[in-house]
Amino acid sequence: MGIHVIVGGQWGDEGKGKIVDYFSESADIVARYQGGANAGHTVFIGENQFVLHQVPSGILRQNTRCLLGTGMVIDPIEMSREIRELEEKGIQCTSQIGVAYNAHLVMPIHRILDGISEDASDEQFIGTTRRGIGPTYADRHARIGIPAHMLLDRTEFEQAVQLHLTHANKMITEIYGQPPYQYEEFAEQLEEAQEKISPLVTDVSDEILQALHGQQTIIAEGAQGVMLDLDYGSYPYVTSSHPGTAGVSVGLGIPPDAITRSTGIFKAYCTRVGEGPFPTEIADQDHAVRLREAGGEYGATTGRPRRCGWFDGVLAKYSADLNGFTDICITKADVLSEFDEIPVAENYETNDPFLNVQKLDKVNPAYTYYPGWKTDLTGITDPNDFPETFQRYLMVIERISGAPVSMVSVGPERNQIVKR
Ligand code: IMP
Repeated sequence: MGIHVIVGGQWGDEGKGKIVDYFSESADIVARYQGGANAGHTVFIGENQFVLHQVPSGILRQNTRCLLGTGMVIDPIEMSREIRELEEKGIQCTSQIGVAYNAHLVMPIHRILDGISEDASDEQFIGTTRRGIGPTYADRHARIGIPAHMLLDRTEFEQAVQLHLTHANKMITEIYGQPPYQYEEFAEQLEEAQEKISPLVTDVSDEILQALHGQQTIIAEGAQGVMLDLDYGSYPYVTSSHPGTAGVSVGLGIPPDAITRSTGIFKAYCTRVGEGPFPTEIADQDHAVRLREAGGEYGATTGRPRRCGWFDGVLAKYSADLNGFTDICITKADVLSEFDEIPVAENYETNDPFLNVQKLDKVNPAYTYYPGWKTDLTGITDPNDFPETFQRYLMVIERISGAPVSMVSVGPERNQIVKR
């Protein structure tokens, strides 16, 4: 059966949570393969809104196994809080969740370091989520991190945290000139988290390989988006992991040919949070504010207003080519209904002979203007009922990206999905 990957095709916040929830209905396993609590995956069910940061979006379906893979960085304190909040909403979920023994742990000091380094950087302020993501991946690569299996033995865990704190304090005092932190400041929270999360530690790769042999249905849930990829995004304004299809293999410990479908999720327009180039960002504040308000474009994790822009066809093609999208899902199409015409960047104007995604600040988008559909899409269930203008917009996206649009999300609710 293979693994079906859900990837954010743009700058994150494409609405992956809802799409993963949709596919989870028939899934045995949903697994996150990268990122951590920087993600905020929103699912609306009736009156209830769920924002999931680390727990995979399959958790809202009973009996779906939800795995946090090796490629993630897992914050045990935040994770305990997230599980508690789900339990308070009546979702008893601990038996569904597994945490990879070799995923790395985000410590409170990582979060502190993320904030300190952002505050100290004038020229290269990234606008991170301050969830400790970059510092934790950095420690993993420097081979001084704390893998999740350390949680299994309280004494070993405490020793590992103390040793790690000594390293971190050196940086905090010597580079940033700030006073050191003591283990005791975090001890209580860490002990509680150790107790709550240690029973969840498992071998995620093995679980998924067994499930593949058993012909089970497996969804790999991406976080962030392709343009935030550490290597293939707009470096240095990126996250520290690999949100694309290629990240799944190493992030879950599965052979690449186990991936049989990769669905790219694209908003009908573009948004970005944090710093960094954004070629199609709308300069006209009236239009930008209209789009932000119509789309409720505020970060699910940090509450920051998202920067808004038009659909970037150049980057959509880049993203589709890089990730081998078998199909595409367009989200938030309903948000554009009020606009008379919809610009799409089909090319860039640039004099740079070696243009690449790390030079996006040097391009001007060349727009083609398509007529708006001026129709409420939110109640449509049959793709044949889409207005012709909207059908044409979808065909433009298909022509540019080279992948078929297999589904369209026309509202936040679970059932507001139109299959094509
Ligand atoms: P970090 O992942 O917190 O280190 O942040 C690095 C960059 O990625 C910043 O520009 C963040 O705003 C952005 N980012 C991280 N997670 C998300 C996400 O889930 N959605 C959108 N942007 C994100």
